[in-house]
Amino acid sequence: MSKHVRKAVFPAGGLGTRFLPATKVIPKEMLALVDKPIIQYGVEEAVASGIEHIIIVTGRGKGAMEDHFDISYELDATLERKHKDELLAVSRGVSSMARISYVRQKEPLGLGHAVWCAKDLVGDEPFAVILPDDVIDAETPCLKQMIGVFEERGGSVLATMTIEGPGISAYGVLAGEQDPDNWRIYNCTGMVEKPKFEDAPSKLAIIGRYVLTPRVFELLEKTKPGAIGEIQLTDGIKALVQEEKVFGYTFEGKRYDAGDKFGMLQATVEFALKRADLGPKFREYLKGLGL
Ligand code: UTP
Repeated sequence: MSKHVRKAVFPAGGLGTRFLPATKVIPKEMLALVDKPIIQYGVEEAVASGIEHIIIVTGRGKGAMEDHFDISYELDATLERKHKDELLAVSRGVSSMARISYVRQKEPLGLGHAVWCAKDLVGDEPFAVILPDDVIDAETPCLKQMIGVFEERGGSVLATMTIEGPGISAYGVLAGEQDPDNWRIYNCTGMVEKPKFEDAPSKLAIIGRYVLTPRVFELLEKTKPGAIGEIQLTDGIKALVQEEKVFGYTFEGKRYDAGDKFGMLQATVEFALKRADLGPKFREYLKGLGL
């Protein structure tokens, strides 16, 4: 098996119910964070991390994503005719960003099932998984940091972040031991999905970035649907931990849950404040609210 991580899977077949009614027709992954669909942040991160091939797992009603990353002849021709060169570059940039393949998840049977749908396109090589609604702001792209750990340590890598207090119960939580040489790395011995605060094995929440070996596909195939009839990715990874080295990695950067209304609001404010074209004006506006 090659050690080179060339492919990234983007599960985007879910229903996005936390964002209804906005997501009744528009895929959650296409909701705009300032002026870019949230999935584009993930695709840009993957490309900046050296990924050559992106695999998006879609579902019914998710066609807007394919159109977004495709060439838009009418739009490009109109922008060209009107000499809107900067906007033309933006539009063309999106369609030439990466090599993208699509695979359909016929029913939203869970994140594990969505990843499994990409099995044939990934083949027998390590791969990354990016959950598009986790938007990460980092100097070195989060996935690039993780691929570095994978190449150095030779085992699957799960992105983690520290959550103090009962908020940890909303996440899959890592169990393991801290590496003596690098505080960011944990040798993973297991994980617990959404534990009670008292039962959480650590403060390390697993978030939406993974580098996995292809063995996980076979293990997912054996996974029985859980309590709510879904095949969970964590169940596949739990089985992987029994066979191979798996690491937790506390990435450097800040993660926003843009699939959640409050998380999207936080990301919108912070990303807008960072923008050279919007930041100063927006800061003045916020100050003027006298909160
Ligand atoms: P989420 O649980 O955040 O997404 O899954 P969801 O189910 O779409 O949203 P809510 O909870 O109802 O609001 C994380 C990612 O996994 C994908 C989603 O599209 C999202 O990007 N996913 C989830 C699938 O691709 N297939 C599934 O069956 C479930």
